[in-house]
Amino acid sequence: MNYYKTTKPFLSTLLLCALSLNTSFSQSPKSLKSVYQEDFLIGTALGVEHILEKNEKANLLIKREFNAITPENIMKSQLIHPSEKSYNFEIADKYVDYGYKNKMYVVGHTLVWHSQLPAFVGKIKSPDSLRIFMTEHINTVAGRYAGKMNSWDVVNEALNEDGTLRKSVFLNLLGEGYIKEAFDLAAKADPKAALYYNDYNIEQPAKRKGAIEIIKKLQASGSKIDGVGIQGHWSINSLNLKDIEESIIAFSQLGIKVAFTELDLTVLPNPWDLRGADVNQRFAEKPELNPYKDALPDSVQTTLANRYADLFKLFLKHRDKISRVTFWGVDDRHSWLNGFPIRNRTNYPLLFDRELEPKKAYQAVINLKISK
Ligand code: XIL
Repeated sequence: MNYYKTTKPFLSTLLLCALSLNTSFSQSPKSLKSVYQEDFLIGTALGVEHILEKNEKANLLIKREFNAITPENIMKSQLIHPSEKSYNFEIADKYVDYGYKNKMYVVGHTLVWHSQLPAFVGKIKSPDSLRIFMTEHINTVAGRYAGKMNSWDVVNEALNEDGTLRKSVFLNLLGEGYIKEAFDLAAKADPKAALYYNDYNIEQPAKRKGAIEIIKKLQASGSKIDGVGIQGHWSINSLNLKDIEESIIAFSQLGIKVAFTELDLTVLPNPWDLRGADVNQRFAEKPELNPYKDALPDSVQTTLANRYADLFKLFLKHRDKISRVTFWGVDDRHSWLNGFPIRNRTNYPLLFDRELEPKKAYQAVINLKISK
């Protein structure tokens, strides 16, 4: 028997099979985290239902697409530190375990913030008492997860839109030194975690200047700061790529990493031209402000996809400066933008729809990496 003659067709069939398998693999949908693996981490914000793995489809999606997680609410002081001497670590512990188990980059959000504070802090009137709260809070919370947390948003939203410091309870009672105190406490409580200053609108020039001042002062006084988080609560109608690019460059020139920590693009009208994410701003409900109650028109779906593609093109251009891009939520149903700044609207700001299926915007973000 001629071995060569009989085996060759067999081998070529095998080869063909292997090739076609290979092609079908390369054509099968890739995940966000795999295509951006060499560029930056891709994260999502988790709610309690995600942490408790309530929905199998969501759970599989999170594990397939993301390699970084942020807790949407459960580590905010109001929830984790509800009264002076009591902490509620139950879900936070599960959150950290979830990240650890799935080999994800785990973010702590957030240690010092004027919003979602426990009621007892509102009653504090003396600097000493507030300092005790802040110190015990950071030592206890950051200390508990030391060695397991990859990064902390140490101070959140300390700035006004004009770049001056926000007159929060922390500034009012402790003076501007509270920012340094917070970073130093966090560095001591968890020496390994990367420490970030996090805020919205800091890509805009005036507020950016304020953020740069905060970072420079921390650095000049010898405090540890590793990065800045630009939240990225933007709109498909007013995305300013120039401001974003200038900020990536300006912040990274300070020798720190830039992360996009809470990315979402609202598709809904904003008649008061509200920009940003002050969680205390609320407006009345009106039908004309909720135009896509039943479905998102194709044209808007396409605009959303194009805006996301523009953004990720820019992120890729500066991939050496960017540590992470985190979406603020898993899917449109779960997005906080259905309730903010107007309650009961139907928004479509993320890459996955209400059925947890990828949208055109998802494909646009993936295509930037696979069509080359
Ligand atoms: C939001 C959550 O998504 C909502 O569920 C909550 O009701 C209010 O806070 N900036 C931040 C985030 O740093 O913590 C906020 O998250 C959105 C704005």
